[in-house]
Amino acid sequence: MKKPFPFSHLPHARRRRRSISSEKRKKSMAATAAGDAVAEQEQLLLHLKLAFLAREAPACVLALARKAGGGSITPHVQNFILESCTGNNAGGDQNCTYATTILKRIIAEAELSSDIVIDGLYEEFGQFMSSKSNNSSFNRAHKIHKEISFLSPTNDNKLVSLIARLSCSINMLEGDTGCSLWPSSLFLSEFILSYPKIFSKKCCFELGSGVGLVGVCLNYVGASKVILTDGDASAIVNMKANMEMNNLCVKQEGSQLLKENKNKVQCKYLSWEEASESDLWDCRPDLVLGADIIYDPVCVPHLIRVLYMLLRRGNNRGINNVANKEETSNEFSSSATEVPVAYIATVIRNVETFNCFDKAAADAKLSVVNITNSEAPSSLLPYMLSYDRSSVQLLKITLLS
Ligand SMILES: C[S@@+](CC[C@H](N)C(=O)[O-])C[C@H]1O[C@@H](n2cnc3c(N)ncnc32)[C@H](O)[C@@H]1O
Repeated sequence: MKKPFPFSHLPHARRRRRSISSEKRKKSMAATAAGDAVAEQEQLLLHLKLAFLAREAPACVLALARKAGGGSITPHVQNFILESCTGNNAGGDQNCTYATTILKRIIAEAELSSDIVIDGLYEEFGQFMSSKSNNSSFNRAHKIHKEISFLSPTNDNKLVSLIARLSCSINMLEGDTGCSLWPSSLFLSEFILSYPKIFSKKCCFELGSGVGLVGVCLNYVGASKVILTDGDASAIVNMKANMEMNNLCVKQEGSQLLKENKNKVQCKYLSWEEASESDLWDCRPDLVLGADIIYDPVCVPHLIRVLYMLLRRGNNRGINNVANKEETSNEFSSSATEVPVAYIATVIRNVETFNCFDKAAADAKLSVVNITNSEAPSSLLPYMLSYDRSSVQLLKITLLS
C-alpha cells in the first residue's frame, strides 16, 4: 500500500507541495513561450528572406524587416539581411539594382530611427553602388530574376517545398503582360500544390501561360504532360528560358530529350484567335488551366472557342472509355478517363468583361462554377505582402453534357 506523505495532514506542507508544482508549471510554460518566440522569430526572418528573393516591392521587404525586429530594423535583422539576403552566402541570382535599393532604404530607416546601422551594411551598399556604376547594363536591364518559394502546406508553413526561378519584366504595366507574374497564377499555383492529386498523372494544358509559373508547379506535382501556351512571341521566348532555368524545358520538340523525359514542360505558341482544330489535334488534355486570361472582351469569344475545343476533344476520349468511368467517380482519382475540366483563376477587374465571359460560356454550353471558397487552396506565400489572395476567383469549367 502506498504510504501517505508523512506531513500531508499539516496545511503548510500541502501549500508547499502545491507551490513547488506550480513553480514547475510556470517554468515549463516560460520555456514553451521562449521556444515559441524563437520559432516565430525564425519564421519572420524566413519570410523576410523569401520576400527578398521573390523581389517583392521594397516597402513590403521593409515591412517584414520591421516586423522581424519587433517594430524596428534592429542590428540583428540588419545582420540577417547581410548574411542571408544580399551577401555572398545568400545564393540565388543577385540583382544589383534591387539589392542597392533595399540596402539604401534599410540604412535610411535605421539612421532615422536612431538605431545602430552595422558597418557591414554600409560596406555592402558601397560595393553594390560601385559595381552598379561600373556596369552600365544594370541600368538598362528590364527583366528581374525572381525566386518564388512556396511554403509547405503540411509543415505549418515552416519549410519551403518548391522554388520556381523566373525571369520577369520589371514593370508589368509597360507592355510585356506575358512576361509579368500576375496574382492569379500565384493563386492557381497554390491550388495545384494544395490539391496535387487532381493534377498528378494528368495531361495539363495551359492557356496564356506568361512566365510559366503554373508549369513549374504542375511538373512538381507529377503531371504526366505539361503543355504551356501563349499568343505572345516574346512571352514564349521568356517562358522557354524560364523552363530551362528550372531544368524543365526541352529545346526541340520531338528531340531525343523529349522522348526520354516525358515529364517535362513544352512551350508552344498558341493565339486564341488563330487556333484551329488541327492546332489542337494532338492535345487531349485531362485538365486545362488559365490564370488572368479573362480581361479583354475582344478576346473572350476566341478564348471560349478554344476552351470548348479543348474540353470537347478530351471529352470524346472520355466517351470512348465510358466503360471505365465507374472507377473514376472520386474527384481526386488519377484515371485518365474522367471528363476534362478547366480551372481558371481570375481577378475580376471589370464586371462587364466577366459577365461577357459568363454569357459566352453559357452560350457554348460550358458550365462555370466558382469554387474559390469550396476548394480554397492553402496559403503558401504568406511572405508576399503584395499578393492579395482575396482578389482572385477560381472557376471550374466543364462541358455541359
Ligand atoms: C495577364 S497575363 C497572365 C499571364 C500568366 N498566366 C500569369 O497569370 O502570370 C495574360 C496572358 O495571356 C496571353 N494572351 C492574351 N491574349 C491572348 C490571345 N488572344 N491568345 C493567346 N494568348 C493571349 C498574354 O500574352 C499573357 O501572357
